[in-house]
Amino acid sequence: MWSTLVILSLLIAPLSPVAAKDHQSSCVIKSGGTNVTDDSPAILKAFRDCGQNGRIVFEPTTYYVNSAMNISCLDNVDINIRGTLLWSTDIPYWLKNSMNVGYQNQPTALIIGGNNVRINGYEKGTFDGNGNYWYQWISEQPNKSNYPGRPHGVTFANLTNSVIRPS
Ligand SMILES: *[C@@H]1O[C@H](CO)[C@@H](O)[C@H](O)[C@H]1NC(C)=O
Ligand SMILES: *[C@@H]1O[C@H](CO)[C@@H](O)[C@H](O)[C@H]1NC(C)=O
Ligand SMILES: *[C@@H]1O[C@H](CO)[C@@H](O)[C@H](O)[C@H]1NC(C)=O
Ligand SMILES: *[C@@H]1O[C@H](CO)[C@@H](O)[C@H](O)[C@H]1NC(C)=O
Repeated sequence: MWSTLVILSLLIAPLSPVAAKDHQSSCVIKSGGTNVTDDSPAILKAFRDCGQNGRIVFEPTTYYVNSAMNISCLDNVDINIRGTLLWSTDIPYWLKNSMNVGYQNQPTALIIGGNNVRINGYEKGTFDGNGNYWYQWISEQPNKSNYPGRPHGVTFANLTNSVIRPS
């Protein structure tokens, strides 16, 4: 399934708990606490350790996402998001490093894919692409429409038998 969401400014649909499954592992991700610390390595590690038959927990805090992440091959996992993932304002980085997913001229900053994935938002889970920062920047460029290389915040790619729920 392909469901691309808007530009880096995404909000998100907070997500709801679905029937809990047996978890063989559980990973609670710690935020570094400032945007000087890139939380992407900790996030990727959690998905490596708990992305199959596990549970991934984002606490009620802000996670600073300074790097593109391809999180695929998930299998039977709950992703519980009670906080915010905030993308960095480093536009040159994103223009250079966002991932091409074959959609127009628009790459993506985050890929989530796999089977039997439940993303639960508890009415709080947020993906904040720092869109206003981009809109301001774009408004200062000669080419204002559909700026080449401006990424989508999130692409759900090859995600099957899965739910993304707000509460
Ligand atoms: C970090 O946060 C400050 C204060 O909000 C902001 O001005 C700056 O652009 C941010 N830097 C990155 C890389 O996100
Ligand atoms: C993301 O990772 C998956 C699984 O390793 C791979 O098949 C896919 O090509 C990757 N996508 C990108 C854009 O790097
Ligand atoms: C302006 O945007 C259009 C549409 O994405 C693109 O085809 C064109 O190459 C861009 N021009 C410049 C100078 O970036
Ligand atoms: C989705 O799966 C197809 C087939 O395995 C693969 O070619 C494609 O790169 C995947 N898409 C992404 C964005 O990972």
